[in-house]
Amino acid sequence: PVKVTKICCIGAGYVGGPTCAVVALKCPHITVTIVDLNQSRIDAWNSPDFKLPIYEPGLEDVVRQTRGRNLFFSTDVDKGIEEADLIFVSVNTPTKKSGIGAGFAADLNYVELATRRIADVAKSSKIVVEKSTVPCRTADAMRTILDANSKPNCRFDILSNPEFLAEGTAINDLLKPDRVLIGSLQTPQGIDACNSLASIYANWVPKDRILTVGLWSSELSKLAANAMLAQRISSVNALSAICEATGANIDEVAHAIGFDSRIGPKFLKASVGFGGSCFQKDILNLVYLSESCHLPEVAAYWRQVVEMNDYQKRRFSTRVVDTLFKTITGKRIAVLGFAFKADTGDTRESAAITLIRDFQQEKALINIYDPQVPHEQIWADLAEASPDIPLAATQKQVTICASAIEACKNAEAVVIATEWKEFCDIDWESVYAHMKKPAFIFDGRIIVDADRLRKIGFKVTVIGRAEAL
Ligand code: NAD
Ligand code: UDX
Repeated sequence: PVKVTKICCIGAGYVGGPTCAVVALKCPHITVTIVDLNQSRIDAWNSPDFKLPIYEPGLEDVVRQTRGRNLFFSTDVDKGIEEADLIFVSVNTPTKKSGIGAGFAADLNYVELATRRIADVAKSSKIVVEKSTVPCRTADAMRTILDANSKPNCRFDILSNPEFLAEGTAINDLLKPDRVLIGSLQTPQGIDACNSLASIYANWVPKDRILTVGLWSSELSKLAANAMLAQRISSVNALSAICEATGANIDEVAHAIGFDSRIGPKFLKASVGFGGSCFQKDILNLVYLSESCHLPEVAAYWRQVVEMNDYQKRRFSTRVVDTLFKTITGKRIAVLGFAFKADTGDTRESAAITLIRDFQQEKALINIYDPQVPHEQIWADLAEASPDIPLAATQKQVTICASAIEACKNAEAVVIATEWKEFCDIDWESVYAHMKKPAFIFDGRIIVDADRLRKIGFKVTVIGRAEAL
């Protein structure tokens, strides 16, 4: 197997950045260059005061230790490719917005452009690693493109090495992964390439956690893992609706079923709906794959996970309106949290966006506070969610606030959309004093102590619990 000394990562996003920063940290003998076409993103990665383009606990520390030592960020994609022995392709693969498979299939344009660039530029053999989440058999397409365009004496081995990190815990997930999965062709060359990549991870990951499988299994395992994780949340959210109707408590139910060692306690938190750039996209991708394989029942099964999530978000905003005497027109609602989960500034598919869109349609006034999401990002997301409303009108209806306390001032209702830890420590007495009465709280993340808040005077509504009488 080739001993890798130079790695290039194409795509400096949420995956490429943290992943390769950790490779650089753990492999000082390897030079890692992360390249991207987006100049401002690369500038941020290179910023002298470490104002990195993504917020991820622990990331800055890793970049401080490695940047300029054996970790480099650049927009010179061609140079990065030319110099590397091994190339991670870590570009985005969003859901297609138009054309064949629109709304379901992954848009592979960025993967293809990156692959063609590798074929055009490479003057020596390379190991090309799919890091992006892609539909099953994408590696085949990459190989065909590379083989058809390569120069003499250039060999390309394609590996699949999907990333399982979750945002907000990415650095820990990368330092101590449950497993690293590598898929390769089961040919001598494929297995050699697989061993080259495995020996990089072996610098910090125990050998029994490095799983090697066939290419297509590796690609499908990534979609399968995300589909099953999302399915757990949709299952628990479906149960939360039954709890609200019957008087059972979803946290107690989740606790009870999680004690079954076959089910396990993790990832059973009912919520206002899952968000993030992966779950919905990857399930839709799996739905499309099932349909392409003429398996409509399988497609319908997985599609229901996303439909349940849409239902959960809709159900929550309807509950807010119903509880506020069936109208929120002209009422001020404070939305705490805009990111799709705590400890990230990422807003892709965040449930908060859907809720705020619904509140806007009901002509409410909305105050938003999130400790990490940049204001421009909030405006961009709201504009995209309500293309019919001019931004100027949205900016009259919506105010972005500098703190949770400020957001709640003069509001009739507080809606908790993200489980930021600081929302557990809010001075609710003071919030109550400055709100309109009756003062309502809607907890979409099950983080507040409802009984205590009721004692203060709040009317409290929690996901997966019936209204208190
Ligand atoms: P991202 O949008 O944050 O980053 C992708 C980057 O690739 C962008 O900065 C873009 O400018 C760059 N890029 C696109 N085409 C390029 C090209 N031809 N040359 C150079 N740069 C190019 O996306 P992400 O969240 O990092 O996700 C990347 C992939 O990893 C996706 O397939 C995603 O499904 C998968 N994934 C994401 C997560 C996550 O938590 N975000 C976790 C596991 C897997
Ligand atoms: C997910 C996968 O966990 C990760 O393995 C994969 O690599 C990328 O996709 P991510 O989307 O970053 O990671 O975060 P995750 O922690 O999975 O949360 C996804 C969404 O589900 C968030 O909106 C979160 O709030 C929600 N969630 C999670 C719940 O509502 N309840 C839970 O019990 C867990």
